[in-house]
Amino acid sequence: MIGNPGSDIYHTVNYSLMKPKVILFNACTVNGLIARKDGSEDFLSDVHWKVFVRLAERSGCFIVGRNTFDLYKDDEDYSLDRIRAEKIVVSHRGIAPAQGWYRARSVKHALDLVSKWKKKEVVLSGGSLLNTAFVKAGAVDEMVVNIDPTVIGKGMPLIDPVSAQLNLKLLGTKKLGDDIVQLRYKVI
Ligand SMILES: NC(=O)c1ccc[n+]([C@@H]2O[C@H](COP(=O)([O-])OP(=O)(O)OC[C@H]3O[C@@H](n4cnc5c(N)ncnc54)[C@H](OP(=O)(O)O)[C@@H]3O)[C@@H](O)[C@H]2O)c1
Repeated sequence: MIGNPGSDIYHTVNYSLMKPKVILFNACTVNGLIARKDGSEDFLSDVHWKVFVRLAERSGCFIVGRNTFDLYKDDEDYSLDRIRAEKIVVSHRGIAPAQGWYRARSVKHALDLVSKWKKKEVVLSGGSLLNTAFVKAGAVDEMVVNIDPTVIGKGMPLIDPVSAQLNLKLLGTKKLGDDIVQLRYKVI
């Protein structure tokens, strides 16, 4: 039994053999914010974009939330379309995704698509709401977090406040440039 159709509850029993590894990648400020309240990320370094593209192309697929998709779909400098990987946008709505995109209606649906493509891993890059949905569904296996040397007062958190807890094991750290630190964790 793999859960109700459309359900975000990800039952690992029976399904774990097929489940792709989900790597949550986000860049954030030292106080854990990934964007300003208005959605802009002007305070973040360009380095993070390059890291995301590299991870997504290595995995062969990536997943974003509908707000992130909307924000970047016409962006020439940070074009999600140009990334050489399968692309999934998650939305409850029956939106017609752009060419080269798949629309998933739930966390489980997104992972079913990735499994169908026989990809072993997928990069998830929320925003807040979608990251949170994956965390609540118990579907995140690894986290790669780039810490920008910035603090901003208000903004969107990496994970929205939820009554969920992830216990993490540190897999590695890397210094990117002079001031950025990358933390890599396994969810245990
Ligand atoms: N710093 C970083 O690394 C980074 C990375 C990615 C994004 N961001 C930033 O994050 C911000 C956007 O974050 P956000 O929290 O507003 O939005 P988001 O997570 O990008 O998208 C939220 C939308 O995704 C859909 N969704 C979420 N959970 C779902 C579920 N369980 N089932 C079906 N659909 C679901 C819903 O779309 P519908 O309303 O259509 O149903 C929801 O409104 C942007 O400012 C972006 O720049 C930052």
